[in-house]
Amino acid sequence: MDAAKPVNIAELRRMRAAGEKIACLTCYDASFALIEDRAGVDVVLIGDSLGMVIHGGRTTTPVTVDQIVYHSKCVAPHLQRAFLIADLPFLSYATLERALDASQRVMQEGGAKMVKLEGGREQASIVEYLSVRGVPVCAHLGLQPQFIHKMGAFKVQGRDDAAAEAMVHDAHVLAEAGADLLLLECIPAGLGRRIAQASPVPVIGIGAGHDVDGQILVLHDILHISPTVTLGRTPRFVKNYMNGAPDIESAIRAYVQEVKSGAYPAPEHCF
Ligand code: KIV
Repeated sequence: MDAAKPVNIAELRRMRAAGEKIACLTCYDASFALIEDRAGVDVVLIGDSLGMVIHGGRTTTPVTVDQIVYHSKCVAPHLQRAFLIADLPFLSYATLERALDASQRVMQEGGAKMVKLEGGREQASIVEYLSVRGVPVCAHLGLQPQFIHKMGAFKVQGRDDAAAEAMVHDAHVLAEAGADLLLLECIPAGLGRRIAQASPVPVIGIGAGHDVDGQILVLHDILHISPTVTLGRTPRFVKNYMNGAPDIESAIRAYVQEVKSGAYPAPEHCF
């Protein structure tokens, strides 16, 4: 691995083709950006999970574009190698114009190189609109935390045949629309494998099983300090990398190594 060569979309595609797992982690500030970059994290996400792990909210709904831009600005200058993705927060991509405006801000002001948005085929026109204008898009399928007030609870998605078929179709439509990356959250491992095998673009999972092209977790979850962990609501796919680690950088390095080797996720982290 060339530590100085920045990761880009072409490199993510190459890694996928070569069977090299992509290690992704959320990040929200400069101190952790430096450590994650040095520890070999390939992709850093300014997740709207910041509403929960930084602001202490129960959902991601209150997170604003201003806040994503702010945290992106804290992180971007400190990444030499890792590829930076920023979330488009709740309703910031409700129309084509809003999506373009939010993307412009997180990329031009925040320094992100890709935006992530939640939703299935209904977002295809937005993905296409952004993509043809030079905005790389990661499409987030499966559990979509921005839909919490429609769903009522965070739960595993795609368990029945109809929902699984719909998700396979959504993934296809979004990649056709120009998505450069897919992210699958909280779905059965077999469905994750099926979508990854059919996908023309790299597929990153969080609670989506072992057979996808890379993994992502929330930084504060792997350090065992997030409110969900502290309050005893640790999701099944979370692993405590501070367990046995002498310091934070070692914990993050262990996560990267286990993603690369395939040791993470183990069967107990999958649905
Ligand atoms: O906001 C976030 O951190 C995310 C990850 C959980 C994938 O979307």
